[in-house]
Amino acid sequence: MKILVIGSGGREHAIAKKLLDSEVVESVFVAPGNDGMTLDGLVCVDITISEHSRLIEFAKKNKVAWTFVGPDDALAAGIVDEFRQVGLKIFGPTRLAAELEWSKDFAKSLMSQYRIPTAAYGTFSHFEEAKAYIEKQGAPIVIKADGLALGKGVVVAMTVQEAIQAAHEMLIDNKLGDSGVRVVIEEFLEGEEFSLFAFVNGDKFYLMPTAQDHKRAFDGDKGPNTGGMGAYAPVPHLPQSVVDASVETIIKPVLEGMIKEGRPYLGVLYAGLILTADGPKVIEFNARFGDPETQVILPRLSSDFAQNITDILEEKEPEIRWIDQGVTLGVVVASEGYPLAYDKGVPLPAKTSDDITSYYAGARFSENGQALLSHGGRVYMLVTTADTVKAAQTRIYQELEKQDTTGLFYRTDIGRKALK
Ligand code: AMP
Ligand code: GLY
Repeated sequence: MKILVIGSGGREHAIAKKLLDSEVVESVFVAPGNDGMTLDGLVCVDITISEHSRLIEFAKKNKVAWTFVGPDDALAAGIVDEFRQVGLKIFGPTRLAAELEWSKDFAKSLMSQYRIPTAAYGTFSHFEEAKAYIEKQGAPIVIKADGLALGKGVVVAMTVQEAIQAAHEMLIDNKLGDSGVRVVIEEFLEGEEFSLFAFVNGDKFYLMPTAQDHKRAFDGDKGPNTGGMGAYAPVPHLPQSVVDASVETIIKPVLEGMIKEGRPYLGVLYAGLILTADGPKVIEFNARFGDPETQVILPRLSSDFAQNITDILEEKEPEIRWIDQGVTLGVVVASEGYPLAYDKGVPLPAKTSDDITSYYAGARFSENGQALLSHGGRVYMLVTTADTVKAAQTRIYQELEKQDTTGLFYRTDIGRKALK
């Protein structure tokens, strides 16, 4: 069969590469993809994620069996609804089901209605009311834009003044545009963060290994928030009892809630969780795979990925299996300056082979096609599997030290929380 993956980053590279490994798959198209993916035999299609009708036309013309959606903005724009309307199979939530991600207010009120553990909160569209709430609650406190904001919508404020300023910037200065016309203000939670992913269809769900992202740009969790600078899976120091509690108190009730609200969920559900003194609580839900978590989770899938998704789409019981030994760890290499301004066009090291996989995000061939050059903030990611976090980390950093990463940077402490 032929499959279409929508998106262009390292996440989509990992999804598409795993699909191409399948015995039932003949080719995998990625729209728009990036040139680095072609080194793995993936076919990039020059259509952007917002051109829904061109994507539909492509899927029909090429007899694509089904489509897998990577990024949140495509889901929020209703790409799944449009594909389904013309009878095309697609793996991802509808626009209404994806509201779990694209409106923090919707997610919070659903959690409150179905008693899912999360931070206490209020939602505001008037600055004076937001200010009064902040003054009453005190700091630390967290200010979140209601809508999608490319990872820029959350301010963890350590002082009341900082919190009021963040609310002012979103509600009055309109700094985040429409995303910030409403804000969710929530209680600051303390604990270790981890991510729990599941393949979902309605009330059926199939859990993936736990993962931990590293969102800050620099070592020691310093510097600005990024899309994610590295990850590992599973999180070895997280007891199974925490995963079990997360399933019972979070995953099951949210899927039930979505069905009761008339928005049954199909696709990947991403629960961003924090392990507090009172047990796991929800920081956020996303309606898709995480980037860079996907690049460390999918290599651990030992069953046939394309067959698994086909079965879920056809409402058959999928046979999903995971490698249960060792740890998979990956380090993102980004352009110097990311997540702020950065240069493009830096020549990239050769693709790795054997025990280290290179997943590409912002990569493009030079005009003569001879060299692969940087073309985005996050550029590529090296991933390996080893017996322990320490061993995987040592192997990746050994490789990175050999590479010429002039004009690029990476964190040198991915996996550090597992080594304490
Ligand atoms: P989000 O975009 O919702 O994932 O938030 C980005 C980051 O802000 C999270 O990964 C957390 O580190 C932090 N954060 C979000 N909400 C809270 C909260 N209620 N308490 C503490 N930290 C938070
Ligand atoms: N790794 C964070 C995200 O995908 O949102």
